Amino acid sequence: MRETELMREYEEETGNLAVIDGEITTKYENWKNMKIKEKIKEKRKQELLSSKQTRKKIKEEFDQGKKVDKDYDHLIVVENIHKTYLLGTTAIAALRGINLTIDKGEFTLIMGPSGSGKTTLLNLIGGLDTPTRGKIFLEGKNIATLKDSELADIRRDKIGFVFQFYNLLPQMTALENVMVPLHFSGKLSKRGKEKRAMDLLSIVGLEERAHHTPSELSGGEQQRVAVARAFANDPAICVLDEPTGDLDSKTGIQILNLLRDLNKRGATFIAVSHDAAVSEFATRTLHMRDGKLIREGKIVGLKETYIMEIQRKNEAEINKEKCKRKIYQYLFNNQGKKEFKITDIANSIPEPILKNLPIHFDDILREIIEDDTIKGQIKEDILILK
Ligand SMILES: Nc1ncnc2c1ncn2[C@@H]1O[C@H](COP(=O)(O)OP(=O)(O)OP(=O)(O)O)[C@@H](O)[C@H]1O
Ligand SMILES: [Mg+2]
Repeated sequence: MRETELMREYEEETGNLAVIDGEITTKYENWKNMKIKEKIKEKRKQELLSSKQTRKKIKEEFDQGKKVDKDYDHLIVVENIHKTYLLGTTAIAALRGINLTIDKGEFTLIMGPSGSGKTTLLNLIGGLDTPTRGKIFLEGKNIATLKDSELADIRRDKIGFVFQFYNLLPQMTALENVMVPLHFSGKLSKRGKEKRAMDLLSIVGLEERAHHTPSELSGGEQQRVAVARAFANDPAICVLDEPTGDLDSKTGIQILNLLRDLNKRGATFIAVSHDAAVSEFATRTLHMRDGKLIREGKIVGLKETYIMEIQRKNEAEINKEKCKRKIYQYLFNNQGKKEFKITDIANSIPEPILKNLPIHFDDILREIIEDDTIKGQIKEDILILK
């Protein structure tokens, strides 16, 4: 077993880093010795398995779709996938029969209202989760039925991720952050990794900032580091969930320009965004609603139709009522308390509701106080109950 694989296993199992400041930690060394002994034992046990059992195992592996099981013309083929989440006894059908193909070199954008299933679809394509039903072929291999460990390999080797909030490791520099996926793939020497990471940082225009930690970088710069990191292992596809969601529009456009440049150089992207500006940078825009793809087309500068506007506003009004109920529920659950941070109350509201409200959350709180449903007052970011 390769050292880097062991390091990855250690980091996943213990949550500690195997290498700090370029030095292998003693904790990791001890863990490794123990692990190697365990693995030798395990190997001996395995060797005792009869050939009959081995044959059975191979057949099972084949049935689970471990082999390349489809000739592929497309990079990704999504066949009739469904995803249902179970919340207690309630089933939420987040995806309801999605069919989709993605080719190399495309920049696919998925748009749609909050809760329509965009992130769910992206997570399935990125191998972060598996569908309840249906198949997802990545380079001809069905990833819908893989085990967690196998999906982890696919994510490491084939997929780059960029999220709304960058998700960089705060204690590491930009360079070290970009090197993280390179440690896991274990293909390069230490010098090779540094060179590759530096090349990636220069592509995203951040060579000069290589030795800065995330807190010393702006939001846009952090997102550029995240893009560089996503490309570290030369992924087949890079998935991006609201990549400009946390940035002001000017910085967002800088990121989109960077993505367009990378796309022109052959990178394949699938992105989710609420921001219609993104569609100008994508080669293709898909629209989702209620867990289904409703239409596809390259819509530049998408304009909301009258019907769409009415639907959005209706949803927002319904969300406002849901939001009020959640606020009462939160205060009820915290009876006896007199002061609440408004952000804490907001955090108790599900994101899909919070994201599509007709007025600001604080104003909903004010309305409740004004109509006397709750007796209290708001001082800066605190709600004080009477
Ligand atoms: N882990 C989960 N458990 C239960 N329900 C979930 C889970 N994740 C998502 N859902 C539900 O599935 C539906 C689709 O959610 P998803 O996050 O995919 O929407 P989205 O289109 O990305 O929305 P947004 O634009 O707000 O990010 C929603 O009704 C959501 O509440
Ligand atoms: Mg989402």
